Amino acid sequence: MGLKTEILNKLKMETTENKGYCMVEEPDAMTESTIGSLLKTNKIGSVICAYDEIDSTNAEAKRLAEQGAADGTLVTANYQSAGKGRRGRVWENPVGSTISMSVLLRPDIEPIKASMLTLVMALSVSKAIENVSGLETQIKWPNDIIIHKKKVCGILTEMSAEMDDIHYVIIGCGINTGTMKVSPEVRDKATSLLLEGKKVKRAALVAEVLSCFEQEYERFLRAGNLAPLLEEYNSRLVNIGKEVKILGSLQEYQAMSEGINESGELIVIKEDGTKEAIFAGEVSVRGIYGYV
Ligand code: BTN
Repeated sequence: MGLKTEILNKLKMETTENKGYCMVEEPDAMTESTIGSLLKTNKIGSVICAYDEIDSTNAEAKRLAEQGAADGTLVTANYQSAGKGRRGRVWENPVGSTISMSVLLRPDIEPIKASMLTLVMALSVSKAIENVSGLETQIKWPNDIIIHKKKVCGILTEMSAEMDDIHYVIIGCGINTGTMKVSPEVRDKATSLLLEGKKVKRAALVAEVLSCFEQEYERFLRAGNLAPLLEEYNSRLVNIGKEVKILGSLQEYQAMSEGINESGELIVIKEDGTKEAIFAGEVSVRGIYGYV
């Protein structure tokens, strides 16, 4: 029995054992050739490593980077056995029902600016999903993609750098495209393109993400900051002009979200009227009544 069949059978078994999984269908192709034939980019995705199973596409992209892989290398997988989420969390998904992809970059920018690349990718994924599926998407700062108040994509950016020199940056995206876990904790917060009524070809969406990303990345590199992307990013921001809860390690407070500045910080107005620029690594932001 092949690995894919084994995983599919396992998931079907879990369904019958009522562990909260949806039925899993045979995944559509996401191979070097299916993605490559749809690509319109110059550099991003010029090398593609598409795996059936890998521990984590971010981890594999890092290993490839250490071996000298080219700027723009794309890593995808049908199934990740050790997918990584933000803040050390596990990122789990059934085989074939998501896009797990990571892009390796070697940008000539200061290390302090690397976190802005997460926002560049968030805008790109938001646009790509809309272009391919027609579904309207929003962004929950800094980098969750939202449909109807639920998360459809998470982004994890990792970097290897010295004080003033980036070796490489890996930007990983997990996009829920198909069937997915529907455990009660997840049900209210997460969705997929299929659950929103759209069945997309994963290879086509990957190619579109890369295409949008190449354009936004070039604009970002030319400016050296997010200024050229600011208007579009803020127009998609789910909590702009809304009351949000800022959850820091030492304090928690409510404030009004004004949108991001050209460094990607979220500008909020506190209850005493003072403005604060929040750096993404430091805090989480929630809607006052829930996730958004
Ligand atoms: C989050 O916590 O919201 C970020 C999730 C990022 C998941 C993606 S899936 C592809 C890439 N490989 C990983 O191990 N993680 C990222």
